[in-house]
Amino acid sequence: MERLIIEGGVRLEGTVDISGAKNAALPIMAASILAPGVNRIHNVPSLRDITTMGRLLTHLGIDFMHDNGTVVLDSDNLQTVEAPYELVKTMRASVLVLGPLLARMGRARVSLPGGCAIGARPIDLHIMGLQKMGAEIELSEGYINARAERLRGATIYLDIPTVTGTENLMMAATLAEGVTIIENAACEPEVQDLANALVSMGARIEGAGTSIIRINGVDSLNPLDYRVIPDRIEAGTFIAAAGITGGEVEIRGCRVDHLESVIAKLREAGIHIEHKPGRLKVKGPERLNAVDVRTMPYPGFPTDMQAQFMALMAVSDGTSLITEGIFENRFMHVAEMRRLGADIIVEGATATVRGVRMLKGAPVMATDLRASASLVLAGLVAEGRTVIDRLYHIDRGYERIEEKLRGLGARVRRER
Ligand code: EPU
Repeated sequence: MERLIIEGGVRLEGTVDISGAKNAALPIMAASILAPGVNRIHNVPSLRDITTMGRLLTHLGIDFMHDNGTVVLDSDNLQTVEAPYELVKTMRASVLVLGPLLARMGRARVSLPGGCAIGARPIDLHIMGLQKMGAEIELSEGYINARAERLRGATIYLDIPTVTGTENLMMAATLAEGVTIIENAACEPEVQDLANALVSMGARIEGAGTSIIRINGVDSLNPLDYRVIPDRIEAGTFIAAAGITGGEVEIRGCRVDHLESVIAKLREAGIHIEHKPGRLKVKGPERLNAVDVRTMPYPGFPTDMQAQFMALMAVSDGTSLITEGIFENRFMHVAEMRRLGADIIVEGATATVRGVRMLKGAPVMATDLRASASLVLAGLVAEGRTVIDRLYHIDRGYERIEEKLRGLGARVRRER
C-alpha cells in the first residue's frame, strides 16, 4: 500500500496551478449518457474517481478515453442499464447514472451505495424525486430498479439541498415531458456547472445556482463539448497549505467567486489573501488566529474544507469550535491529528480545538479523501517525519498532490 512521507517545517513558496473540479466532472461525465454521439469534456483531472466513473460508463457500453485532461465518451451504443455493486461501492457518485439512464433508456438498475466513512448518506431524495416524475421504483437485493416510459415534469421539494440528488433530478428532467421545478435545490458551483453543460447540449434550464431550478423537458439532446470549472476545494486546500506553513504562494487558475466563504474564514484566521483575476496571492502569518466555523450548504463554508480548516486550527493561537452541519460522522481525522499532538475533543457535531504551538510528526492513517488532505497539511507543519498510510484516499480527489507540493518546496515523497 502506498504511503506519503512528509518532512515537516518547510515554508511553502511558489506558484501552483489548480486542476479541474472532480465534483463537477463526475456528473458531467454521467450526462454523456443523455445524448448519443461523441461527448468531449475538457479540464478533467486525472484522479481515481474519474477512472472509476470511466469504468462504470464503459460497463454501460460507452467508449471512454481520458488523455491530456480531455475525456472523450462515445455513447452511441448503450448496452446495459445496470450499475453493479462492485463499482458503486468504491464510489458513491456512481449513483449519478441513475437519472440519465432512466431518462434516455426508460430503465435503470443501480446498486444502492450503502454507508461510507463520513456517514450513512442515504439517497432517498433522489428516489423520491424520480418517483414524483412518474418513475416506478423498487428496491430489491440491494439494487434500485427504476422504470418509466417517459418521465413527466413535476414539482419536487428537497428536504435537504442534496448536491448529487439535485444533479440526478436535473439530468432526468432534461428529457422529461413538461416542466420540472426543483425547490430547495443545492446551489453549489458544481450544480451550476452541470446545468451549463446540459444547456450546451440543448437542455432548457433556468435558476441553477439558486435554490429553485426550472427545467423545461426537450425531446433530445446533442453531445457535449464542455470545459469544467476549477476545483474550489483543491484551491482552498492549497491556500490552507500556504497559510499553515507561513508560506507565500500564488494559486493560479481558480475561480475566486466560488471561494468566498473559504477566503473569508481563512482571512479571519490571519492568512493574507489578495485577489487577482483568476489567481490568488496567499501569505501565511507567523501564528494563525483561532476562529469558529460551521459547515453549511453553499454559499456557506463547505464540509469538504472542514478537515483542512481543523488542521489550521490545531496550531492556532486560542480555542476554536468547528461544527459539522452536513455529515454526521465527518470527524475521522480527529483521532489521527491527535497522534500528531493536536488537542481536539469532539462532542456531537462540534469539535473543540485548542491550538498548540507545535505538532510532532508520527505515522497516521488516511480515512477518507478530505481527512487525508488535512493530515497532509498537519504533516507539512509538524516537526519531523509524518507518514500517511492508505494514500489511495487522497488520489481520489487531488491530482498529482506530491508533485504540486514539491513544486512549492515541500519535502514529500510517495513510497510504494
Ligand atoms: N441526504 C439525505 N438524503 C438524500 C441525499 C442526501 O438525507 O437522498 C443527506 C446526506 O446524508 C447528507 C446531506 O444530505 O447529510 C448532504 O449530502 P449530499 O447529498 O449533498 O452529498 P453528496 O451529493 O452525496 C456531494 C459531494 C461531496 C460533498 C457533499 C456536500 C459529489 C460527487 N460529492 O456529495 O464530496 O461533501 O456533496 O457538499 O459531488 C468529496 O469530494 O470529498 C465529497 C465527499
